[in-house]
Amino acid sequence: MARLVIVSNRVPDVADSGPRAGGLAVGLADALVPGSLWFGWSGQRVAQRSDEIHTATEDGITYATIDLAEDDYRSYYLGFSNATLWPLFHMMPSLVSFDNAGYNAYRDVNEQFARTLATLIAPDDLIWIHDYQLLGLAEALRQLGVGNRIGFFLHIPFPAPALFDLLPPAEELLHGLLAHDVVGFQTEQDRGHFLGAMYQRGISLQGNDAWHEGRRLHSMVTPIGVDVDAFNRLAVRAVRRVEARRVVESLAGRALMISADRLDYTKGLPARFDAYGRFLSRFPEQLRRISFLQVAAPSREEVDQYKALRDELDYKAGAINGEYSDFDWVPLRYMTRAAGRGVLAGMFRISRIGLVTPLRDGMNLVAMEYIAAQDPLNPGVLILSRFAGAATLLPEALLVNPYDVDQMAEAINTAMLMTLEERQERHVALLERIRTHDATAYCRSFVAVLSQAEG
Ligand code: G6P
Repeated sequence: MARLVIVSNRVPDVADSGPRAGGLAVGLADALVPGSLWFGWSGQRVAQRSDEIHTATEDGITYATIDLAEDDYRSYYLGFSNATLWPLFHMMPSLVSFDNAGYNAYRDVNEQFARTLATLIAPDDLIWIHDYQLLGLAEALRQLGVGNRIGFFLHIPFPAPALFDLLPPAEELLHGLLAHDVVGFQTEQDRGHFLGAMYQRGISLQGNDAWHEGRRLHSMVTPIGVDVDAFNRLAVRAVRRVEARRVVESLAGRALMISADRLDYTKGLPARFDAYGRFLSRFPEQLRRISFLQVAAPSREEVDQYKALRDELDYKAGAINGEYSDFDWVPLRYMTRAAGRGVLAGMFRISRIGLVTPLRDGMNLVAMEYIAAQDPLNPGVLILSRFAGAATLLPEALLVNPYDVDQMAEAINTAMLMTLEERQERHVALLERIRTHDATAYCRSFVAVLSQAEG
């Protein structure tokens, strides 16, 4: 079997494995057999660009990383990746900022990744590149003569063609994607947008394939998933831990509603806080019966839009608690720090409601983990944004429009009133869906298609 080489901007910190590691590492666990290589950024910043490669091995998997030059961190990571592509791909054009220097650094870093990675790969390796930070990597590898099969998976949405067009280097980036053999998306909508953008540029399409200069690029939809049993075990263990027991005690019989997100404007936190405030004002009979815990892990704090978000949420949280708190009841617990996966799994399991309302999201694994964590005898209710990729897979959740504050407030009330029987019925259906679309299915379907590519 060919060796698998994973490439992503972030690489799991080998020193920090265990229950904390989530996201991509879980999604790829099935494919990461001993002998595999994972390549990316070390997370370290250095004064000057350097091609030195650091390697570490754990469980037979080699992690090879490079450092980013301080200027590249600012222009490639904070700049073009996270102040241009991130808001644009999440279809929030008013938050996009663009400058040529950022794009040039992005190209340079993609070339640096290609240059360093090329020294590590053998002719038969399957190369699987992940996410929006590395849209130009395959093309840079091809320019170095790399003829391997190369796949790409986009974890975030692909924007509608009219929005993609706003990007000054739209044409160049799209052409760069043609250097892959396979590109994968979370949803049919993402793939449709991508093929639409190709079509508008006169690239010839045949079904789900794009043809360019005699090369075929196959596009597929393969949603990422979670390891359902592993997360369930984590949750079962976690409810016995002191953190979970302390929370249960502090609730004094009230229902817990929980949200856990990176502190990111795509996650819809301000509207979510508004919806909670609206719920408390429209359904006064629920006052004191609920406690909302929002865990928000700070992220990309040096990007202006993220700073503004933090200020806005501080204000809104203060307003809700100021208006509704009682001597012995605080309606909103708002934590701006990361919590370990084990702790979160326990909180999910003891909660009555999981509130996941991004304005736009590629998939949203928290929604799936929330389901995986539940006790089937007494499951919580998932309220989920229609604009998360996960909504296409999870119709038995209470689906809401995250721009509709009243609808979200009503959904919270519906969840509070839902009978045990209905909660159980929905849970059985949702559990079945996350088992069908789990991490193993994601990995296997992508790797199977990439292995069969002509190269
Ligand atoms: C999203 C992106 C990932 C990214 C992660 C964390 O899930 O799809 O590519 O790694 O956010 O963001 P960060 O900027 O900290 O890597």
